[in-house]
Amino acid sequence: MELKASEEAERRPTSCGGIIRPFIPESEIHRRVRELSAEISRDYRELDVLMVGILNGTILFMADLMRHLDFDLTVDFVGISSYGDGTTSGNLSWTKQPGYPVRGRHVLVIEDILETGQTLDNVLAALQADDPASLKSCVLLHKQRPDFSPRPPDYCGFRIEDHFVVGYGLDLAGKYRNLPYIGIYQPASSVTVEVIEIEVRFWSHFKDLTGVAVTKLQLPSGCRVAEATEKILSKWPSLEPHSQSALVAVGNEYATEDRILSAGDSLSFFPPVQGG
Ligand code: XMP
Ligand code: MG
Repeated sequence: MELKASEEAERRPTSCGGIIRPFIPESEIHRRVRELSAEISRDYRELDVLMVGILNGTILFMADLMRHLDFDLTVDFVGISSYGDGTTSGNLSWTKQPGYPVRGRHVLVIEDILETGQTLDNVLAALQADDPASLKSCVLLHKQRPDFSPRPPDYCGFRIEDHFVVGYGLDLAGKYRNLPYIGIYQPASSVTVEVIEIEVRFWSHFKDLTGVAVTKLQLPSGCRVAEATEKILSKWPSLEPHSQSALVAVGNEYATEDRILSAGDSLSFFPPVQGG
């Protein structure tokens, strides 16, 4: 399954100024993980299977994958220190060594994301040296890079474009592994704020106080009624004494402060109805 990044409204700001844009929703991950589990169950039924996850990025993927596998299997994790100096299998440095013997077993290595393929290749080569009965790989994500063509994994969740992704086990400087979905990290330097335009209407004596009946207002996308009101009060301070009692509507309906505005919305301010 190949995925392209889609534009979505919900964005999560990060502590380093960038944002995380939702990419693969939780429901889609779970659907695909169940498909992979079914495929793996078919292929490995009746075999003595050792599933080996590469730490730390595979924690959620492993947990979800294994709970749908309906055969007896042994589960293990390995840790390796990051490559960088052209490490080969011979000098792979484990931060957690395999906890079970590999010899004679059907070993399935689980990796979070394949980029150059070096991490997975190193682990496969190290395990191959211990003489497994078979050795295959399963990756959640395969990042398509024009400059690398790693050996294709035996099972792959999603092929994705070249983005830095976080969530569902994947991290940014150790954080965001707990997000239940996969998002694309966009650094602060590349974030452009989308602007929407809404209509603002003042009714009854608010029209006299501002001298305006209808006007246009530009706001950052995702803006709520509360922020729009703040902006309006700073532009027309004469409304300030009435801000607590004013009624606010979007279109024909009263709106609460946390209502998110969309381009083209009409935001009305009117005084409370008098008498009766
Ligand atoms: P190689 O190049 O060895 O890279 O195939 C795979 C390893 O690099 C990490 N990696 C990422 N981690 N978001 C992450 O959180 C990413 O977009 C990403 N791309 C690569 C990952 O640890 C994987 O084991
Ligand atoms: Mg990793």
